[in-house]
Amino acid sequence: MSMTKRAALAGLLTTSLSAFGLLTAGLTAPASAQAFPTKPITVIVSFAAGGPSDVIARLLGENMSKTLGQPVVVENVAGAGGTAGAKRVAAADPDGHTILIHHLALAAAPALYANLGYDTKTAFAPIGLVNTGPMVIASKLALPTPDAKAFFPYIKQNAEKLTIAHAGVGSNSHLCAVLMSQQLGAKFNQVAYRGTGPAMNDLVGGQIDILCDQSTSAIPQIQGNSIRAYAVTSAQRLDVLPSTPTMTEAGSKLDMTIWHGLYAPKGTPAPVLDKLNGALRVALKDGAVIEKFKAFGTSTFPEADWTRDAHAKLFAAEVDKWAQSLAAAGVKPQG
Ligand code: MLT
Repeated sequence: MSMTKRAALAGLLTTSLSAFGLLTAGLTAPASAQAFPTKPITVIVSFAAGGPSDVIARLLGENMSKTLGQPVVVENVAGAGGTAGAKRVAAADPDGHTILIHHLALAAAPALYANLGYDTKTAFAPIGLVNTGPMVIASKLALPTPDAKAFFPYIKQNAEKLTIAHAGVGSNSHLCAVLMSQQLGAKFNQVAYRGTGPAMNDLVGGQIDILCDQSTSAIPQIQGNSIRAYAVTSAQRLDVLPSTPTMTEAGSKLDMTIWHGLYAPKGTPAPVLDKLNGALRVALKDGAVIEKFKAFGTSTFPEADWTRDAHAKLFAAEVDKWAQSLAAAGVKPQG
């Protein structure tokens, strides 16, 4: 065979082989997405066990595992206001087997932390929105304040003697504590925990004085008469806490609504994200999940917002919103 013919044949072979490679790559990608999940799925919770993010993750995980046909295992990776867990997921294999549940603190983090180790806007593929609800301002029972009318003047006057717990800089409980401090013009002693699960235990035990936590964790303790609630940060009172006033009724403008979403690492194939979104939707329609959400004073988003796209839009808007509002308040990323 002449050199020219041999070269032409080699060229042809190379082209065909790469075409075959492309073809098989094209064939295998959807096939592996179809097979997903091939092993247990880990949901990273960025705060300690027993807190609201953990409770919601376990509730969803139990239901989603039935749809997905694999166990959904919760792993608590707490620390640095919820950014340690987010960092773990940002660096995980983008195959859908490691996902993250997080709340608005994920969006606020870049305005507070200089070295996150990931780019918040691009590191995650939103899977879907989970729930939305208010915070509840509560104290240990030993505080001598029977209601909101007595509580707010008391804590303003005694701020330096009082401890307020939170789950690290940028967490919901921290943002709520900061907003409350600003509004009252009072400087509390802040105590940071790895999540509001352990903070709530210490509130019940009387080791700390005040905690602003998600209704999910606060309500069972309020109903069990282990802590005292003063106000909810929603526009309306909660059905499950009918005698607790809103912050507006209590004479304050503090209005705070939190929300959770599920995220995969960027680069996770769209069919895998769709499968996870589908399993999330099944969970959000489940009667037992809906009942639990109601009991926790939290709710799902309207069904039209259960798409991946709606989640991506809300997340991007929240990152911008927190960047602007924290910068306007003179807050600079630290660390
Ligand atoms: C938790 O699960 O501990 C909370 O979501 C932390 C917080 O943001 O306050």
